Amino acid sequence: MPSTRSTSQSTSNASRSASRAQSSARSEIVDMLKEDHKRAKKAFRQFEKLDPHEDAEECQAIVEQTCAELKVHTALEEELLYPAARRLLSEEDLIDEAEVEHATAKSLIEQLGRMTPDDEKYGATFKVLGEYVNHHVKEEENEMFPQLGRAKGEWQGLCDEMNSRREELMQQLMPEAGDAARAGASRRSSAPASRTSSRSPRTRGSETEQRAQAASQSESDDAE
Ligand SMILES: [Fe+2]
Ligand SMILES: [Fe+2]
Repeated sequence: MPSTRSTSQSTSNASRSASRAQSSARSEIVDMLKEDHKRAKKAFRQFEKLDPHEDAEECQAIVEQTCAELKVHTALEEELLYPAARRLLSEEDLIDEAEVEHATAKSLIEQLGRMTPDDEKYGATFKVLGEYVNHHVKEEENEMFPQLGRAKGEWQGLCDEMNSRREELMQQLMPEAGDAARAGASRRSSAPASRTSSRSPRTRGSETEQRAQAASQSESDDAE
Protein backbone atom coordinates (compact mmCIF):
# COMPACT_ATOMS: atom_id res chain seq x y z
CA MET A 1 0.00 0.00 0.00
CA PRO A 2 1.58 3.39 -0.93
CA SER A 3 2.54 5.72 1.87
CA THR A 4 0.72 9.06 2.31
CA ARG A 5 3.92 10.85 1.27
CA SER A 6 4.37 8.98 -2.02
CA THR A 7 0.67 9.41 -2.82
CA SER A 8 0.85 13.15 -2.32
CA GLN A 9 4.06 13.34 -4.37
CA SER A 10 2.50 11.49 -7.30
CA THR A 11 -0.58 13.74 -7.07
CA SER A 12 1.63 16.79 -7.25
CA ASN A 13 3.63 15.33 -10.20
CA ALA A 14 0.37 14.62 -12.01
CA SER A 15 -0.86 18.14 -11.42
CA ARG A 16 2.45 19.62 -12.65
CA SER A 17 2.29 17.56 -15.81
CA ALA A 18 -1.39 18.49 -16.38
CA SER A 19 -0.47 22.14 -16.02
CA ARG A 20 2.44 21.75 -18.48
CA ALA A 21 0.04 20.13 -20.99
CA GLN A 22 -2.41 23.03 -20.61
CA SER A 23 0.30 25.59 -21.11
CA SER A 24 1.65 23.82 -24.19
CA ALA A 25 -1.88 23.65 -25.66
CA ARG A 26 -2.25 27.39 -25.04
CA SER A 27 1.04 28.03 -26.88
CA GLU A 28 -0.10 25.82 -29.75
CA ILE A 29 -3.29 27.90 -30.14
CA VAL A 30 -1.41 31.21 -30.07
CA ASP A 31 1.30 29.96 -32.45
CA MET A 32 -1.31 28.71 -34.92
CA LEU A 33 -3.10 32.07 -34.94
CA LYS A 34 0.15 34.04 -35.20
CA GLU A 35 1.21 31.92 -38.15
CA ASP A 36 -2.06 32.84 -39.92
CA HIS A 37 -1.37 36.51 -39.16
CA LYS A 38 2.12 36.27 -40.57
CA ARG A 39 0.90 34.64 -43.77
CA ALA A 40 -1.81 37.28 -44.29
CA LYS A 41 0.64 40.14 -43.69
CA LYS A 42 3.03 38.61 -46.21
CA ALA A 43 0.25 38.36 -48.81
CA PHE A 44 -0.66 42.04 -48.33
CA ARG A 45 3.00 43.06 -48.77
CA GLN A 46 3.24 40.91 -51.88
CA PHE A 47 0.10 42.54 -53.31
CA GLU A 48 1.62 46.01 -52.76
CA LYS A 49 4.29 45.20 -55.35
CA LEU A 50 1.73 44.35 -58.06
CA ASP A 51 -0.60 46.26 -60.31
CA PRO A 52 -4.16 44.82 -60.46
CA HIS A 53 -4.47 45.79 -64.13
CA GLU A 54 -1.08 44.55 -65.32
CA ASP A 55 -0.83 41.55 -62.98
CA ALA A 56 -4.53 40.74 -62.84
CA GLU A 57 -4.24 36.95 -62.49
CA GLU A 58 -1.60 37.08 -59.81
CA CYS A 59 -3.53 39.74 -57.88
CA GLN A 60 -6.76 37.78 -58.06
CA ALA A 61 -5.02 34.62 -56.86
CA ILE A 62 -3.58 36.45 -53.84
CA VAL A 63 -6.91 38.10 -53.02
CA GLU A 64 -8.89 34.84 -53.28
CA GLN A 65 -6.42 32.81 -51.24
CA THR A 66 -6.02 35.48 -48.56
CA CYS A 67 -9.76 36.12 -48.23
CA ALA A 68 -10.49 32.39 -47.91
CA GLU A 69 -7.80 32.00 -45.23
CA LEU A 70 -9.07 35.07 -43.37
CA LYS A 71 -12.60 33.62 -43.38
CA VAL A 72 -11.33 30.44 -41.74
CA HIS A 73 -9.26 32.42 -39.23
CA THR A 74 -12.01 34.86 -38.21
CA ALA A 75 -14.60 32.08 -37.88
CA LEU A 76 -12.26 30.09 -35.63
CA GLU A 77 -11.64 33.07 -33.39
CA GLU A 78 -15.30 34.10 -33.24
CA GLU A 79 -16.68 30.62 -32.64
CA LEU A 80 -14.08 29.35 -30.18
CA LEU A 81 -11.31 31.69 -29.08
CA TYR A 82 -13.28 34.83 -28.32
CA PRO A 83 -15.99 33.07 -26.25
CA ALA A 84 -13.18 31.47 -24.19
CA ALA A 85 -11.42 34.84 -23.90
CA ARG A 86 -14.67 36.42 -22.67
CA ARG A 87 -14.83 33.87 -19.87
CA LEU A 88 -11.16 34.26 -18.94
CA LEU A 89 -10.32 37.94 -19.35
CA SER A 90 -11.63 40.83 -17.32
CA GLU A 91 -11.35 43.28 -20.23
CA GLU A 92 -14.41 42.46 -22.30
CA ASP A 93 -13.93 45.69 -24.31
CA LEU A 94 -10.98 44.04 -25.99
CA ILE A 95 -13.19 41.25 -27.33
CA ASP A 96 -15.98 43.67 -28.33
CA GLU A 97 -13.51 45.73 -30.37
CA ALA A 98 -12.03 42.62 -31.97
CA GLU A 99 -15.51 41.46 -33.05
CA VAL A 100 -16.32 44.88 -34.56
CA GLU A 101 -13.00 44.80 -36.44
CA HIS A 102 -13.83 41.33 -37.76
CA ALA A 103 -17.22 42.61 -38.99
CA THR A 104 -15.51 45.39 -40.95
CA ALA A 105 -12.95 43.01 -42.42
CA LYS A 106 -15.69 40.54 -43.40
CA SER A 107 -17.63 43.26 -45.18
CA LEU A 108 -14.53 44.16 -47.24
CA ILE A 109 -13.97 40.45 -47.97
CA GLU A 110 -17.58 40.18 -49.23
CA GLN A 111 -17.08 43.23 -51.45
CA LEU A 112 -13.89 41.70 -52.89
CA GLY A 113 -15.84 38.49 -53.59
CA ARG A 114 -18.09 40.45 -55.95
CA MET A 115 -15.20 42.28 -57.66
CA THR A 116 -12.59 41.47 -60.30
CA PRO A 117 -9.19 43.10 -60.89
CA ASP A 118 -10.86 45.26 -63.56
CA ASP A 119 -12.84 47.09 -60.89
CA GLU A 120 -11.44 50.49 -60.24
CA LYS A 121 -11.45 49.98 -56.45
CA TYR A 122 -10.18 46.38 -56.41
CA GLY A 123 -6.63 47.25 -55.35
CA ALA A 124 -7.77 49.94 -52.93
CA THR A 125 -10.28 47.59 -51.28
CA PHE A 126 -7.68 44.89 -50.70
CA LYS A 127 -5.17 47.45 -49.41
CA VAL A 128 -7.71 48.84 -46.93
CA LEU A 129 -8.48 45.28 -45.82
CA GLY A 130 -4.72 44.89 -45.24
CA GLU A 131 -4.63 48.03 -43.10
CA TYR A 132 -7.53 46.78 -40.97
CA VAL A 133 -5.98 43.34 -40.63
CA ASN A 134 -2.58 44.76 -39.66
CA HIS A 135 -4.14 46.97 -36.99
CA HIS A 136 -6.29 44.12 -35.66
CA VAL A 137 -3.40 41.66 -35.58
CA LYS A 138 -1.30 44.12 -33.58
CA GLU A 139 -4.03 44.39 -30.95
CA GLU A 140 -4.46 40.63 -30.73
CA GLU A 141 -0.74 39.95 -30.51
CA ASN A 142 0.16 42.82 -28.18
CA GLU A 143 -2.88 42.82 -25.90
CA MET A 144 -5.22 39.86 -26.14
CA PHE A 145 -2.75 36.99 -26.56
CA PRO A 146 -0.42 38.11 -23.73
CA GLN A 147 -3.45 38.34 -21.40
CA LEU A 148 -4.58 34.87 -22.47
CA GLY A 149 -1.04 33.70 -21.79
CA ARG A 150 -1.53 34.54 -18.12
CA ALA A 151 -5.01 33.00 -17.85
CA LYS A 152 -5.69 29.51 -16.53
CA GLY A 153 -8.15 27.84 -18.84
CA GLU A 154 -9.15 24.50 -20.32
CA TRP A 155 -6.62 24.99 -23.13
CA GLN A 156 -6.20 21.38 -24.16
CA GLY A 157 -9.91 20.99 -24.95
CA LEU A 158 -10.02 24.33 -26.76
CA CYS A 159 -6.94 23.45 -28.81
CA ASP A 160 -8.48 20.14 -29.93
CA GLU A 161 -11.76 21.86 -30.82
CA MET A 162 -9.92 24.57 -32.78
CA ASN A 163 -7.87 22.03 -34.72
CA SER A 164 -10.86 19.98 -35.74
CA ARG A 165 -13.05 23.01 -36.51
CA ARG A 166 -10.22 24.40 -38.63
CA GLU A 167 -10.20 21.28 -40.77
CA GLU A 168 -14.00 21.51 -41.23
CA LEU A 169 -13.87 25.20 -42.12
CA MET A 170 -11.11 24.62 -44.63
CA GLN A 171 -13.11 21.89 -46.31
CA GLN A 172 -16.12 24.24 -46.46
CA LEU A 173 -14.44 27.51 -47.35
CA MET A 174 -11.50 26.34 -49.43
CA PRO A 175 -13.07 23.29 -51.12
CA GLU A 176 -11.27 23.91 -54.38
CA ALA A 177 -7.88 24.01 -52.69
CA GLY A 178 -5.80 20.87 -52.72
CA ASP A 179 -3.90 19.45 -49.78
CA ALA A 180 -0.87 21.65 -50.47
CA ALA A 181 -2.82 24.88 -49.98
CA ARG A 182 -4.67 23.55 -46.95
CA ALA A 183 -1.45 22.25 -45.47
CA GLY A 184 0.07 25.70 -45.97
CA ALA A 185 -2.88 27.35 -44.28
CA SER A 186 -2.93 24.87 -41.42
CA ARG A 187 0.81 24.34 -41.05
CA ARG A 188 1.52 23.71 -37.40
CA SER A 189 4.68 21.99 -36.34
CA SER A 190 3.13 20.53 -33.18
CA ALA A 191 -0.11 19.16 -34.63
CA PRO A 192 -0.26 15.39 -34.16
CA ALA A 193 -0.78 13.38 -37.33
CA SER A 194 -4.05 11.96 -35.97
CA ARG A 195 -5.60 15.43 -36.10
CA THR A 196 -5.13 15.68 -39.82
CA SER A 197 -5.72 12.09 -40.80
CA SER A 198 -9.39 12.67 -41.66
CA ARG A 199 -8.52 14.73 -44.75
CA SER A 200 -9.59 13.23 -48.01
CA PRO A 201 -6.68 12.58 -50.35
CA ARG A 202 -6.44 15.18 -53.11
CA THR A 203 -3.68 15.31 -55.58
CA ARG A 204 -4.53 18.28 -57.76
CA GLY A 205 -4.93 21.85 -56.58
CA SER A 206 -7.11 24.43 -58.29
CA GLU A 207 -5.74 26.91 -60.79
CA THR A 208 -6.21 29.67 -58.24
CA GLU A 209 -4.21 27.77 -55.68
CA GLN A 210 -1.43 27.06 -58.17
CA ARG A 211 -1.26 30.74 -59.15
CA ALA A 212 -1.20 31.77 -55.49
CA GLN A 213 1.58 29.31 -54.79
CA ALA A 214 3.59 30.53 -57.78
CA ALA A 215 3.09 34.11 -56.63
CA SER A 216 4.09 33.17 -53.13
CA GLN A 217 7.27 31.45 -54.31
CA SER A 218 8.28 34.56 -56.19
CA GLU A 219 8.34 36.54 -52.96
CA SER A 220 11.39 36.04 -50.78
CA ASP A 221 11.01 35.66 -47.02
CA ASP A 222 13.39 38.53 -46.34
CA ALA A 223 10.60 41.03 -45.74
CA GLU A 224 9.35 39.17 -42.65
FE1 LIG B 1 -6.34 36.73 -35.36
FE1 LIG C 1 -9.08 38.37 -34.96
